Amino acid sequence: MSLTLGTVNRATEFPGVSEHYDRKEMAPGPTPNFPLPRNEINILSDADKREKARMIRQDALRFPDPLWSSISAEAKDFDLAALAGMFTLSGGLGLHMTASIGGADMPVVITVLNSYSGWALCAEGFMLDKPILTTVGALIGSSGAILTHIMCVAMNRDIVSVLLGGYGTSATGGGEAMVFEGEATFTDVEATVENLKAAKEVIVVPGYGLAVANGQYAMAEIAKELRAQGVNLRFAIHPVAGRMPGQLNVLLAEAGVPYDYVLEMEEINDDFPDTDVCLVVGANDTVNSSAEDDPTSIIAGMPVLRVWNSKQVIVMKRSMGAGYAGADNPGFFKQNTELLQGDADDGPMPQTRFVTQKPIADDRQAVVA
Ligand code: TAP
Repeated sequence: MSLTLGTVNRATEFPGVSEHYDRKEMAPGPTPNFPLPRNEINILSDADKREKARMIRQDALRFPDPLWSSISAEAKDFDLAALAGMFTLSGGLGLHMTASIGGADMPVVITVLNSYSGWALCAEGFMLDKPILTTVGALIGSSGAILTHIMCVAMNRDIVSVLLGGYGTSATGGGEAMVFEGEATFTDVEATVENLKAAKEVIVVPGYGLAVANGQYAMAEIAKELRAQGVNLRFAIHPVAGRMPGQLNVLLAEAGVPYDYVLEMEEINDDFPDTDVCLVVGANDTVNSSAEDDPTSIIAGMPVLRVWNSKQVIVMKRSMGAGYAGADNPGFFKQNTELLQGDADDGPMPQTRFVTQKPIADDRQAVVA
């Protein structure tokens, strides 16, 4: 039984993780990669695996002696063939399940696969009679399951609809997404720094772009400097920002940003209307207003940070390109929004850091105080 569970879980998890890695690195986007009727395939493959597991179990009952040597050659061949069949099917199921899930649901898929890997380890612990493996596996499996629940709440989804009919699939009906048109307004580093220094309340929303550019150190310095100059700067972290659960929290902590002004979405989302400047650094889907405004959007219904309610929004990114889910962001065209174009690695971030460190102008002191 342990062997069966270990094989099924591990074989489902590995191709699933590989498929996720492939999409993260090569072709991120909302479009599922599997055109076949996925629910039918998943159910059939599951039923077949259960039948094979039943056959192995019947065999084990026929030969109550657990020692491999006491089992006849035919029964061994049969069991090995059933196990190999299950391994192949589980591998196919893992690949197929992950490939057919839309990009915006990926955070949930990652935690599900994480949980699978824990349960596989747990079963392997039973099989090898290693309590430490069983215990560690159970811990990983259950923490993965808890994280899955947290992610589902954060994305306003339930696990069944993620695995059986994720975002970005034909199961999420609603027709064509709305087309947003307008002219974006651009700004530069000097103006951004002026605005940041003149503000009393600033919220920084970091996203995947900050993580990929390793911009957390420059951001931490900017934050430190502005806070020293009297600006109430806080960070707002969306639960699925970046590409890993808690990625931005970890990066900011690594850069020495104190926890007390790094806030979760539900703690800070109502504070945007009282915010003078919201600086979005390399985030897109997590601040995309179409999640609330466009019922046909691929991310419709996903809770987002309502940055557009701030008095002024400055978005630092390299282009007008979409985020991971591939949805257009109408927020870029709003009147209170300006784009600070550039790379969070070697563009505006280091320049902003440099300029914020200059002494604050006398006439600004009064505004900040
Ligand atoms: P995204 O929506 O992916 O947007 C990131 C933005 O950063 C992009 O639009 C990109 O625009 C910009 N960017 C990339 N490199 C940059 C650089 N070097 N400098 C400046 N900007 C850069 O990020 P998000 O708002 O953090 O949302 C996360 C997304 O990932 C969600 O859709 C979520 O579902 C998904 N996801 C999350 C996870 C977990 S567990 N957190 C796992 C898998 C998927 P430009 O190209 O124009 O610069």
